[in-house]
Formats: sequence, C-alpha cells, structure tokens
Amino acid sequence: MKPIGTPLSAHATRVMLLGSGELGKEVLIALQRLGVETIAVDRYENAPGQQVAHHARTIAMSDPAQLRALIEAERPALVVPEIEAIATPELERLEAEGVVRVIPTARAARLTMDREGIRRLAAETLGLPTSPYRFCDSLEELQAAIDAGIGYPCVVKPVMSSSGKGQSRLDGPQDVQAAWDHAMAGGRVSHGRVIVEGFIDFDYEITLLTVRALGAAGQVETHFCDPIGHLQVRGDYVESWQPHPMRPAALAEAQRIARAVTEDLGGQGLFGVELFVRGDQVWFSEVSPRPHDTGMVTMCTQWQNEFELHARAILGLPVDTTLKSAGASAVIYGGVEAEGLVFDGVDEALRVPRSEIRLFGKPESFERRRMGVALVRDEDVEKAREQARLAASKVRLRRP
Ligand SMILES: Nc1ncnc2c1ncn2[C@@H]1O[C@H](COP(=O)(O)OP(=O)(O)OP(=O)(O)O)[C@@H](O)[C@H]1O
Ligand SMILES: [Mg+2]
Repeated sequence: MKPIGTPLSAHATRVMLLGSGELGKEVLIALQRLGVETIAVDRYENAPGQQVAHHARTIAMSDPAQLRALIEAERPALVVPEIEAIATPELERLEAEGVVRVIPTARAARLTMDREGIRRLAAETLGLPTSPYRFCDSLEELQAAIDAGIGYPCVVKPVMSSSGKGQSRLDGPQDVQAAWDHAMAGGRVSHGRVIVEGFIDFDYEITLLTVRALGAAGQVETHFCDPIGHLQVRGDYVESWQPHPMRPAALAEAQRIARAVTEDLGGQGLFGVELFVRGDQVWFSEVSPRPHDTGMVTMCTQWQNEFELHARAILGLPVDTTLKSAGASAVIYGGVEAEGLVFDGVDEALRVPRSEIRLFGKPESFERRRMGVALVRDEDVEKAREQARLAASKVRLRRP
C-alpha cells in the first residue's frame, strides 16, 4: 500500500466522493480521520458531505464532459461514487486510460447504475436466485410480460430509480395502467423502461454488508457484517436493526450469494447486498457497491461502522466487522417543503437512553426527504427499535 500523505501538501492522498449526501458525509469523515485530503462533489451546493470535506465542487455528475474535466483537473488517487446517477461510461474510459481508480471498479459502478445491468449479471451470468422478471418498454409489453408468466401480484419499477420512486405493487389487471404511469413519472431519466418482477412473499429482508479488503499478504479477502433487518415503506427504508436473527442455512446461502456477486463486481470496498428470505430460501434483490442507507445502524452497533469499513478497504487497510452491540436506526423525515429548517426536540431525543442523533445538514427539506436518523443501542433488538422510533419522533422540524 502507498503511504498516506499530509493533506493539503504535495504528497497528500486525495480522494474524491461523487455524491456527498448523508452516506458520503460519513465516508468523508472516516477518510478525514485517516489523514486523507477529501474532495466532495455534488449537484447542489452545501450538500452534507461538502460541509466536512477539504474541497467542495458542484457539477452535473451525469454529464460526461463535466465529470471528465473535474477529474482531470483534480487528479484524485481514488474516485468513490456515492450515488447511481453518474456518467459511469466516462468513468470506465478514465479508468481504462489510467487517469484514475474508481471504487470498487468503474464496471461495478456501471452495472449497478440501473436495475438491468445488475439483475442480468446476477440472474443470467451468475445464476443466482432472483424474483422472476422481464424488462419492458411500453404498457403493451408490460401487460404481455405479466400475462406470459410473471402473473400477479408483481412489482413494477423504473429501470433507473432509487428509494422506491416510481415503484408499485400490482394485484390485478386493473393496476397495470396506473403502475406504468407511476413508473414513467418516477424514473430518473424518462427513457421509459421498466422492470416487472414477480412478488416475493418473504418472511423478512436483510442487507448483508460485505467488505472486500486486503489481507496481510496483499490478497483480497471477503468479510461479512452481521445481517441488518429493515422495514421499507413505499420502497424507502424507515427502520433498520442489527443483528437480524437468521437460521444457519439461510445465513450460509445469503453469504454465498453476497460473495458471488461482490467477487464478480471486484475491486475493494464495502457493498450492501439486499436479500429476501423465506425459511432457508434466499433471493438476491440488488446490490450497492458502496455503503447502504440501512447500514447507518452500524454507527451504533459495530466497532467499525460501514463508512469506516469502506474508507479502510478502499485505502488497502485491514478491517474488522465485529458487532459491538445490537441496535436500531429510525429515519427522521422532513415532513415539510422548506429551506433552512430548525430542529426542535433534539434534547428530548437524546434523553432516550443509549441514543444518538445524526442531522445531515441538508439545506432544503421535502415531505419524504431523509433529514436525519436516530440510533439506539440495546441488546434487545425489539427494544432498540422501539426506542429508536421514540427518539426519532422527538425531533420536530419546522420553518424558522
Ligand atoms: N420482487 C419483489 N417482491 C417483494 N417485495 C419487493 C420486490 N421488489 C422490491 N420489493 C420491496 O420494495 C423495496 C424496494 O425495492 P428496491 O430495493 O428494488 O427499490 P429501490 O428503489 O432500489 O430502493 P432503495 O434505493 O431504497 O434500495 C424492497 O426493499 C422490498 O421491500
Ligand atoms: Mg433497494
């Protein structure tokens, strides 16, 4: 491994985050603590991560020309994508030209940028179990795919979207038109392509944080964190907890799937592998080649949280995924559309025993925007969940 230099000197180790939301902010803090010089990039000014980095840059990361110009000007040792909506083909070219190293790899960033690349890789190339699925470009194709075997209930999602945007569950033919319209309105780019998936009636779903880090001999080793259980409402995470109890056979299958997909994506770093579980049966859903929102719980449950694990892994440093305590996280939503909110009740929230609060510092709030998170440690996971919900509910957002 290369030595770490002094920030803001000629020998600084410079790392660029593409996307500087709440997850990027924590990665940046972890990098700062290791003496790395950080560059926080986002599409708007004063993004959470830009508030804690050495340098802040604001560009349209989906624009290949702007992305190339910035990377060529800054010449970071590593480029770390935090979001999916990036001009990933340009990152592949820059990586191929030897201009920069992308975390975990530029190919992984491209394949996970939309639902199609990663789903075809997992199901068709790697043969991993997934829900039955089809990709469709029109309402007619969607109806035909459902009639030809996907059936009801099923789930329709824009190929390019996250946090449940544009996603709906269909229980019969009467829901198809509305699902199509909802997907067209909610996709990130309106190229009109959706995935329709058979509905998996799972007992529970988990995120299996999986770390590819260098061992003492310089070889990549795979480490697993304890499974994180989570609750999604309208496709967006509202609560997570760790550990989620699993039967040994289900855990072994979850780890087999996570290892297979992360080995194929390659590189070094932390991945969030999303899995559905029923009995001992496990289905792959999707994977983030970066810290995962449900993994924010590790800020109170692990000795090295997911952000520190990512920072260490990408720098070639050793990692330890050991659990410190059981615990839970609960999201604090904006609830209002406004800029420059004030937060009341943080004191009350922090009076909940063993609680912590993170306020992300987002300049603008929306109804369903994640503005903060409450974290509570407790050896009893159910109690931790209850207390995290309580702490989150104490924080009240309002216009100043
Ligand atoms: N085929 C399915 N069967 C059952 N439930 C599903 C299916 N697909 C998605 N879901 C539910 O919807 C949630 C969100 O789906 P998915 O992870 O694909 O969307 P997303 O927009 O990428 O969400 P996020 O960005 O929050 O991970 C899942 O965590 C799960 O609870
Ligand atoms: Mg998901």
